[in-house]
Amino acid sequence: MSFLKEIQRRRTFGIISHPDAGKTTLTEKLLLFGGAIQEAGAVKSNKIKKGATSDFMEIERQRGISVATSVLAFEYKNKKINILDTPGHKDFAEDTFRTLTAVDSVIVVIDVAKGVEEQTEKLVEVCRMRNIPMIVFINKLDREGKDAFDLMDEVEQKLNLRVTPLSFPIGMGYDFKGIYNIWDKKLNLFSPDQKQKVSSGVEFTDLNSAELEKYVGEKSAKRLRDELELCYEVYPDFNRDEYLNGDLQPVFFGSALNNFGVKELLECFIEIAPTPLPKKAEERNIHPEEKEFTGFVFKIHANMDPNHRDRLAFIKIVSGVFKRNAPYLHVRLNKKLKFSSPNTFFAEKKEIIDESYPGDIVGLHDTGNFKIGDTLTQGEQINFKGIPSFSPEHFRYINNADPLKSKQLFKGIDQLMDEGVAQLFTLDYNGRKIIGTVGALQYEVIQHRLEHEYGAKCSYENINIHKACWVHPEDDKNEEFKEFLRVKQRYLARDKQNQLVFLADSAFTIQMTQQKYPSVKLHFTSEYDSTKK
Ligand code: G4P
Repeated sequence: MSFLKEIQRRRTFGIISHPDAGKTTLTEKLLLFGGAIQEAGAVKSNKIKKGATSDFMEIERQRGISVATSVLAFEYKNKKINILDTPGHKDFAEDTFRTLTAVDSVIVVIDVAKGVEEQTEKLVEVCRMRNIPMIVFINKLDREGKDAFDLMDEVEQKLNLRVTPLSFPIGMGYDFKGIYNIWDKKLNLFSPDQKQKVSSGVEFTDLNSAELEKYVGEKSAKRLRDELELCYEVYPDFNRDEYLNGDLQPVFFGSALNNFGVKELLECFIEIAPTPLPKKAEERNIHPEEKEFTGFVFKIHANMDPNHRDRLAFIKIVSGVFKRNAPYLHVRLNKKLKFSSPNTFFAEKKEIIDESYPGDIVGLHDTGNFKIGDTLTQGEQINFKGIPSFSPEHFRYINNADPLKSKQLFKGIDQLMDEGVAQLFTLDYNGRKIIGTVGALQYEVIQHRLEHEYGAKCSYENINIHKACWVHPEDDKNEEFKEFLRVKQRYLARDKQNQLVFLADSAFTIQMTQQKYPSVKLHFTSEYDSTKK
């Protein structure tokens, strides 16, 4: 197959949702369609069970599964589909944000009864900021839930999206009769005992035909006609360009558990979802069709085996063909590297590959060369942009609990931070180290891993910080800036990229600081700047 055809047939996307909306179930059903797995239940949930915060076995188990499910690839109708797994647990939200830099589109799963939930709001906001094309899947229609129109209103308002339904439910819960697919004009009838079976749907172009009554009964037929009429009046027509630009989000309804509405979603997805997209580098835009290979690291996973401290760096291929054993330039280190056993992922299996194409993810064994955001090329000096770091929610001092092992501790902290487990800040005035995380769970993960993988011990100490604000620009000649540095010196720190950070103890402090020093710009996100060592 030609290089261009290989690109055209790839679809790389992520599924995002609030925990329990049905992401794992939907992923599994998609894999079943691709024949990548044979039975339901094969994809293990990578959820950390509620209340498992101090269960290290659970953390280790989760880490094991999350390597296995980091990328789930399958073939469907000659399309190569790569699903990038995004952790559902909110304590790992930072991981999800980074993974979103490697997807070309997303599917947002929403529970019909719960509607838009907190985690969905945050993740969708990140996708909106990047204009990532999104399809919304409203799940669990076999249960009682919110009215379809109310839900679409909620999606528009809370998620700030502009939606158009491409399928529409006929009843729900006890009374759920099926779905009318606006996209391919087919009627799919639901029978709850038909679990796992796929109904191919009845071609149904004329909804005014009396045939509809035969299928769904008089009352439901009338209601469906009325509701669809309203849909056509209220919602814009589907337009692929608008979807691709992130200006319009098609909505599907279904029940992942019952494998209902999933095939329709997949069929539409492979037609409308984008093929691998160009990516911005600091120097220029890189197009997938370019002959020379380029790619970037969006995730690093430590090996499970503590005796071999090698790690797996996940690279998204942006352009060209990645080849095994070819020398590639690690731009930040200005060093040529060869990879003799790059991994590709197929369902839950890892295999060594010889070649990979744009849109694909390869896992490279790494002994400490990679950081998140690093760029690999065939020789060109480019740096891919935009793996942002958000302000952590929790902050604690980290102390060395075993003075004989300080070297191990620093190495451990350094490597865990490169992996993106948490963020490290070093106070300017006394050099003390502060770990910032999205969730409290990470502190236990870090302590556990430092001990088991690096033989180092740490303890934590509370510190009252509300948010980390990145400070730009550093203009030493500006009197106001100098004053800010002097007054706030106890709260100033450096992140791992040596960028200046103001650690504010309250929202009020941030507000007051902004008022008092208007020329000092405070930012709540940073970009991992891969050009700085
Ligand atoms: P997540 O990855 O988004 O966190 O959700 P997951 O797929 O694990 O689904 C969460 C729960 O919702 C699971 O039940 C799952 O069976 C159920 N579920 C998913 N899709 C549907 C659906 O279409 N209809 C109904 N009624 N339920 C659905 P659980 O009891 O928490 O777990 P399990 O014991 O079934 O694995």
